[in-house]
Amino acid sequence: GAAVEADISALNPGEKMTVEWRGKPVWIVRRTPEQVAALKKLDPQLADPDSKRNPAELTPEYARNTARSIKPEFLVAVGICSHLGCSPSDKFATGAQPSLPDDWQGGFLCPCHGSTFDMAGRVFKNKPAPDNLEVPPHMFLSDTRLLIG
Ligand code: FES
Repeated sequence: GAAVEADISALNPGEKMTVEWRGKPVWIVRRTPEQVAALKKLDPQLADPDSKRNPAELTPEYARNTARSIKPEFLVAVGICSHLGCSPSDKFATGAQPSLPDDWQGGFLCPCHGSTFDMAGRVFKNKPAPDNLEVPPHMFLSDTRLLIG
């Protein structure tokens, strides 16, 4: 059991909150419309844009889409790198940044070996992490309450 309920009523666009589920950090990110719109353009740079790898472990059926989510605005993902398990950092700023992909649109950077993920937790190619971040089972209980697990 041990499903976790999260109150997302105070989460503003562009913000992230973290809850613990089964001893793991689960990120809830409220994406801006710009962040959602940018996702599709990144597909050619990603290792698994449609979340087809290990879907049973990594991506519930309702999240096998570009935004990897039930509602495009909200990303729910386990904040653990699919390479060796470090916790990636937020890199939500846009524009060129050293060591990040050329047309960086924001996402997550793993400090251990440099893997990068977009705002849907999809991993960029040519980095050590093989897979997208895990989307845990989740559902919306209401507009402001999320159940994880
Ligand atoms: Fe994240 Fe190696 S643990 S890149």
